[in-house]
Amino acid sequence: MKEPVQEVLLAEDWSSDSWQQKPAAQQASYPDMSALEETLEQLAALPPLVTSWEINNLRSQIADAQQGRRFLLQGGDCAESFVECTSEVITNRLKVLLQMSLVLLHGLQMPVIRIGRFAGQYAKPRSSNMETRDGVALPSYRGDLINGPAFTAASREPDPVRLLRGHARSALTMNFVRALVDGGFADLHHPEYWNLSWVEHSPLAEEFQRLADEIGQSVRFMETITQKNVGNLRRVDFYTSHEALHLHYEQALTRQVPRQWGWYNLSTHFPWIGMRTADIAGAHVEYFRGVRNPMGIKIGPAMTADWLRHLIRTLNPGNEPGRLVLIHRMGAEQIGDHLPRLIEAVRSTDSPVLWICDPMHGNTETTEDGIKTRRFRNIQSELEQAFDIHARCGSRLGGAHLELTGEDVTECTGGARDLSDQDLKRAYKSTVDPRLNYEQALELAMLIVRKQRALEN
Ligand code: PEP
Ligand code: CO
Repeated sequence: MKEPVQEVLLAEDWSSDSWQQKPAAQQASYPDMSALEETLEQLAALPPLVTSWEINNLRSQIADAQQGRRFLLQGGDCAESFVECTSEVITNRLKVLLQMSLVLLHGLQMPVIRIGRFAGQYAKPRSSNMETRDGVALPSYRGDLINGPAFTAASREPDPVRLLRGHARSALTMNFVRALVDGGFADLHHPEYWNLSWVEHSPLAEEFQRLADEIGQSVRFMETITQKNVGNLRRVDFYTSHEALHLHYEQALTRQVPRQWGWYNLSTHFPWIGMRTADIAGAHVEYFRGVRNPMGIKIGPAMTADWLRHLIRTLNPGNEPGRLVLIHRMGAEQIGDHLPRLIEAVRSTDSPVLWICDPMHGNTETTEDGIKTRRFRNIQSELEQAFDIHARCGSRLGGAHLELTGEDVTECTGGARDLSDQDLKRAYKSTVDPRLNYEQALELAMLIVRKQRALEN
């Protein structure tokens, strides 16, 4: 791939701490700033979590996806938690992502870029700085990187030591994922490994069974001709991502590397800017414009055409391929009103972008019992509309961004087993947003295939 003009991206007025001159939204207030400084120094001396060549590989794969040659699947928890950094949770999450990607690979007939929302997804934006319960007000929970979820003053106080723990947990997760992937972790053609019992409950049972059978046959066919186990994936076939929210943490892991120009955020392959921190004059955009990682930008209904064009010009002045992924998250009811005008706005820039749909964050609602949930039919509807709108506007939907877990939780309603509001009480584990469970995630992958095939016919 052609290297972009270096001077364009090596802005002279940028440094890894230049964001500190701008207003930073969604940052924690630490009671002891010198303790924070000390911790950041330690963090800056620790080894990074990923390498620049992995990041460059991902950038070139995203550039491919921008040309319509790959599909991007990004998924994982809304927020990882320190206590869930366990063998079982990591394995199950990897398994569902792997299986979804296989469904997509087979169904869309193109390679899939797999990006986990893991190994660092520990910081959360909040709508309010404080949370009040029974007349008691405490700082909001901002993710395990910052404070604890328990509603006590001690737990809610931001603690810098958590930054080191977050880095260590990310490294443990990364290490285990790399080892699993390296070791050929999954025997993908074993029926007991693929749990497809839900398929019979789907109104599309027959179609899905056929798809599942086709995948099984393809896996066996590939193994026969390559004499290799398809489970043996290449080492960096999984990339990591998180919302780069806590800018002190990100800065400590932003480094220069020998024989590469520019700066890399080496805490993750693919950082993204959340919807609440995309202010053009804000600290997050300032930080992002100087790093060479490919990056996601979350785009909600409030995004204007001018704002988006300005973001693209600021973050990708050299029009580098593979650098920008636009993640729209409008909600099933609003996508039709907002996506077409934004596709139009991007067309007038010279920057290549990859459009992907996050059908989760615009579809969150609260049940009568006060439980946060998402309805599968709304998630499905936003995704399907996204395919249609892009096709109609001469654009292409190149991926999906999902909150999911490999566990059997009941956090989103609907899906093949038609979970109800009553079911939510049974296995609701998320401390933040509701996630698709294993079955719902796999079902959604099949629905993506079904939709794409329908568009092509
Ligand atoms: C998220 O991805 O968990 C999130 C908070 O998203 P958004 O910034 O789009 O609201
Ligand atoms: Co979320």
